[in-house]
Amino acid sequence: MSHVMNTYARQPVAFVRGQGVWLWTRRQEVPRRARGHRGEHAGAQHPRLVAALSEQIRRVMHTSNLFQIPLQEAAADRIAEITGLDEVFFCNSGLEANEAAIKVARKYGHERGIDEPAIIVMEKAFHGRSLATLSAGAAARSRPDSSRW
Ligand SMILES: Cc1ncc(COP(=O)(O)O)c(C=O)c1O
Repeated sequence: MSHVMNTYARQPVAFVRGQGVWLWTRRQEVPRRARGHRGEHAGAQHPRLVAALSEQIRRVMHTSNLFQIPLQEAAADRIAEITGLDEVFFCNSGLEANEAAIKVARKYGHERGIDEPAIIVMEKAFHGRSLATLSAGAAARSRPDSSRW
């Protein structure tokens, strides 16, 4: 029995190595192309990424948002430059991104005198596992099993 809480309908596949867009399982001779609903595997083992992450881990692993984070500032500057937008919100998950989008939309509505701003979401889509994002769209069967939460 796994001690990982069973909140996702996981496939019986575990990846142990990645390179570029390719992923290997423990028993696999031929790699699978990384794809799916997220892109976190793309770029696995890219030398520049490995060097940058190794260097950062050697310097400092993590600091609180209560302090200034120069590399975060630099990344935000670059993203703002590319997108033409004013501010960047960094977060750790899709859930947080969607929660932030909901909050920004609600704030925007409230500032315009709308008491209960409507937010349009995709039906049968997965938006994350918080109460707000779970209520934003019924999860399809193949998605993480929201019925457990
Ligand atoms: C469209 C969409 N929104 C939100 C999420 C939730 O992301 P996370 O698991 O990083 O919170 C996912 C994850 O599958 C997603 O596909």
